[in-house]
Amino acid sequence: MNFNKVAFERSFGISSQLPPSTLPEVAFAGRSNVGKSSMLNALFGRKSLAKVSQKPGKTSTINFFATDTARFVDLPGYGYARVAKSEKGRWAELIEGYFNQDRNFALVVSLVDIRHEAQQLDLNMIGFLQEAGLPFAVVLTKADKLSKNQQNKQAALLRRQLALPDDVPMLVTSSEKKIGFDNLRKLIEQ
Ligand code: GTP
Ligand code: MG
Repeated sequence: MNFNKVAFERSFGISSQLPPSTLPEVAFAGRSNVGKSSMLNALFGRKSLAKVSQKPGKTSTINFFATDTARFVDLPGYGYARVAKSEKGRWAELIEGYFNQDRNFALVVSLVDIRHEAQQLDLNMIGFLQEAGLPFAVVLTKADKLSKNQQNKQAALLRRQLALPDDVPMLVTSSEKKIGFDNLRKLIEQ
């Protein structure tokens, strides 16, 4: 795949608007502010392909980006408490609506902040992916915030807490320092 050539396609505010999947899809899911949109930018070496913010709740629609051979999907985050109830419901509809469709899921990248213990909503997400039989990987974000030693400790702790089977890949990344992206690109290409 050519990671140097990517284009924004469209945003969707309701899952029933989503077109059928015509390309294999790589979706980015995780809590609000975990770094989904930043990861897409780092993956493609682009500064503002996807909109990023310090404030959680930035991505409020499903956003499609396309390369020559795949579609990349930036999803709204889950678990942001300080958003209006109506918005929360709409985001949940988007995320669940997307995953419940009959789509060509090539890989779900499940992002988890490397600094924290496993959260209930992450356990729910990963449980869902396993039950649905979707191909997924856990990608730990913001590794630049920890020492190498702490990164290894947290990765082992999170693998245990998330009860990941051995065959589920776990990557340590930093979008800020561009760490782990060769491995992520390899995983996506597989
Ligand atoms: P929502 O769209 O709100 O769900 O958030 P998101 O998961 O898309 O996160 P986003 O990419 O907008 O990043 C949230 C914040 O985390 C921003 O301030 C980013 O600069 C920061 N961030 C993302 N990745 C990293 C990283 O690898 N290291 C550090 N230090 N900060 C990061
Ligand atoms: Mg976002």
